[in-house]
Amino acid sequence: MAKKAWGGRFKKSTSKIAEKFSESISFDKRLYKEDIKGSIAHVTMLADQKIILKKESNKIIKALKEIEKEIEKEKFKFKEEYEDIHLNIEKRLIEKIGEIGGKIHTARSRNDQVLVDTKLYIRSEINEIIDLINELSKQFVNQAEMNLDTILPLYTHMQRGQPVLLSHHLLAYYEMLKRDNERFSDCLRRVNINPLGCGAGSGTSFPIDRDKTTKLLGFKEASKNSIDTVSDRDFIAEFIFCCSSLMMHLSRLAEEFVLWSSKEFDFIDLGDEFTTGSSIMPQKRNPDMAELTRGKIARVYGNLNSILTLMKGLPLSYNRDMQEDKEPLFDTVDTVKGCLELNTEMLKTAKFKAENMEKALSGGFITATDIADYLAKKGMPFRNAHEVSGKIVAYAEKKNKELEELTLDELQKFSDLIKKDVLDVIKVKGSVESKISYGGTSSKNVKKMITLAKKELSKQAKN
Ligand code: ARG
Repeated sequence: MAKKAWGGRFKKSTSKIAEKFSESISFDKRLYKEDIKGSIAHVTMLADQKIILKKESNKIIKALKEIEKEIEKEKFKFKEEYEDIHLNIEKRLIEKIGEIGGKIHTARSRNDQVLVDTKLYIRSEINEIIDLINELSKQFVNQAEMNLDTILPLYTHMQRGQPVLLSHHLLAYYEMLKRDNERFSDCLRRVNINPLGCGAGSGTSFPIDRDKTTKLLGFKEASKNSIDTVSDRDFIAEFIFCCSSLMMHLSRLAEEFVLWSSKEFDFIDLGDEFTTGSSIMPQKRNPDMAELTRGKIARVYGNLNSILTLMKGLPLSYNRDMQEDKEPLFDTVDTVKGCLELNTEMLKTAKFKAENMEKALSGGFITATDIADYLAKKGMPFRNAHEVSGKIVAYAEKKNKELEELTLDELQKFSDLIKKDVLDVIKVKGSVESKISYGGTSSKNVKKMITLAKKELSKQAKN
């Protein structure tokens, strides 16, 4: 029977079924690097504070580094009976250097230790996710630049509304991703607070130096209330929310890619690399990667719901329930990173079909708003102008003509404010270029935003 780290007061051993039920080593072994890093900082501080001897801490640190290598080389035997990553490493430490290894847990509890690991883990994942978001953002800017003059309909209510530049549409995603990045950076501020030294939840009677471990572990400051600290999993919920928002954006992209690659739209070619065939219908090319991106959001929303439900109504402070925070967290990280990588590559090779987008601009009287604006600029109240433009549309529809095909004579029958310059206004290109308001779709604006986005991305890369 393996001796438990907490076995002192127990007469009987834990049931196998209980061990299997409660273990977390099968998934929290993923935190081994963070666990070792946290322990090294902790024993360094203990020695500096003369709580343990320098030579003891040196011995412990050396053995911890060896354990890290054993794990990396897959030579470490993780054992279910030692519950979690913390105890597995501690047991191995004692096995290697004897009882002295047990000093590692002086002035510490697994309740603060697990938080050190999780916070260090999320911190490094946030940095990786931010980098991956920047890679995807870069592709949106690249594609915007490559498709600068392509025009497609802006859809509202899934109906063709007004002509816009494809580059403007692509940069909408750039803005969404920029907000996601900001949210992750802000979340990091609350993640990056040092929990170490809160012990089981009341602090410790040892003369520890929390500022020292804060510095060693790169945290911003030490947490201020030991009870709150060991009870808190807000930062996990917040992190998964940031991931959910990002996934929501990716799912909207995925939905557009699915629609756009259908024969009905035929706006995009996702390429052989990112589409699959059907096992029964030989003609088919399915946008599976986009569909899976859209589908994977379900896991992330589910994980957010898990964490919020897990924490609801839990009394302070630590409760074992909280061990259930890890699988949703890990699954979220894997899902989000996978989706970001995939979509970056898929967008890189995607080909937008300008001709078909252009075709979609005809037949929908897409510049009707521009006629209303034209009349309003000449002094007609907008409501009346809307009415006149509506009548022109009805006329064109009856005559089976595009607005662009109407002659000046035909147009002038509807209002004597209509002059020759209206003929530019009713063309899609003229409509696009007239949207000169800040943030609008004129190519002058879009070019400006591309330059700005590039600057922002190169600044991000330097940080
Ligand atoms: N495996 C535990 C978790 O993830 C670590 C903390 C355990 N603390 C305890 N007192 N049993 O939450």
